[in-house]
Amino acid sequence: MPRFHNLISIQDLTREDIDLILARASEMEEVSVRRSNILKDKIMACLFFEPSTRTRLSFESAMFRLGGNVLGFADVAVSSAGGKGETLADTIKTVERYADVIVIRHPLDGSARVASEFSAIPVINAGSGSEEHPTQALLDLYSIKKMKGKIDGISISLCGDLKYGRTVHSLAMALLHYNVSIRLAAPPQLRMKPAIIEKMLSSGVDVTTVDSVEEGVKDVDVIYMTRIQKERFPDVREYDAVRGKFRLRLEDVSLMKKDAIILHPLPRVDELDPAIDSTPQAKYFDQVAAGVVTRMAILDLILN
Ligand code: CP
Repeated sequence: MPRFHNLISIQDLTREDIDLILARASEMEEVSVRRSNILKDKIMACLFFEPSTRTRLSFESAMFRLGGNVLGFADVAVSSAGGKGETLADTIKTVERYADVIVIRHPLDGSARVASEFSAIPVINAGSGSEEHPTQALLDLYSIKKMKGKIDGISISLCGDLKYGRTVHSLAMALLHYNVSIRLAAPPQLRMKPAIIEKMLSSGVDVTTVDSVEEGVKDVDVIYMTRIQKERFPDVREYDAVRGKFRLRLEDVSLMKKDAIILHPLPRVDELDPAIDSTPQAKYFDQVAAGVVTRMAILDLILN
């Protein structure tokens, strides 16, 4: 059984927990097609204080495929938190009386942890500020394992906005449980947080830093591209200084290993040329599909 009640940070999970989730996600491939009623009496509340397409809809799809029910809001403006200034604590203490699990996305670092402290029911972090996106990291690991056959022994390049991108923060920390080499490819202004690099080094992970896309994509098994997170910049002039500076173009694919895969948590803006979509290396829409089975596994392990 997993040793978690909530899923707030990837750092709360052991390798054993992660491997259990990945194994359960693999079993969910077949369940997702034939459907199941294993969560038929359960209700999931989705509280999305920030926009989302994939995370919210894949959680909902996961719950429906397991026979469960869904309620919630996708726009804070239609909730009392947005319209009337209700606190997060009061929102949680209300919703826990309507549901069996809360899935929350919020613009503030630490928000999911705070929500869990007020909640009597499990809380799943669907993205908290620029800090963490643990279920994305789990579906990323699942995608790598499914597409490359393993996680141990791979080389991966995390590319793009490593400063504000919450998906790369969670993924980097999840990878610390595995024997991998990590390349960090970012413009100088958007390098990985020093605290995370220190954790990588103290875990014995082979980590290198480069500052161009070309150096990022060569000789690695997995290229994990990310969007520059415009909404997280404290000053729009800082964003303007890096906008459009870190793009993966079709010609860069020829620099990659033939069997490399390109992942991206999506959405993309201009950092990943749509012309790449038809190359064999492009796997980001298959990665989207992995979101459903991974979240089915998470809901099953938490609720059953
Ligand atoms: N990857 C991801 O979190 O996508 P959404 O913002 O669409 O949920």
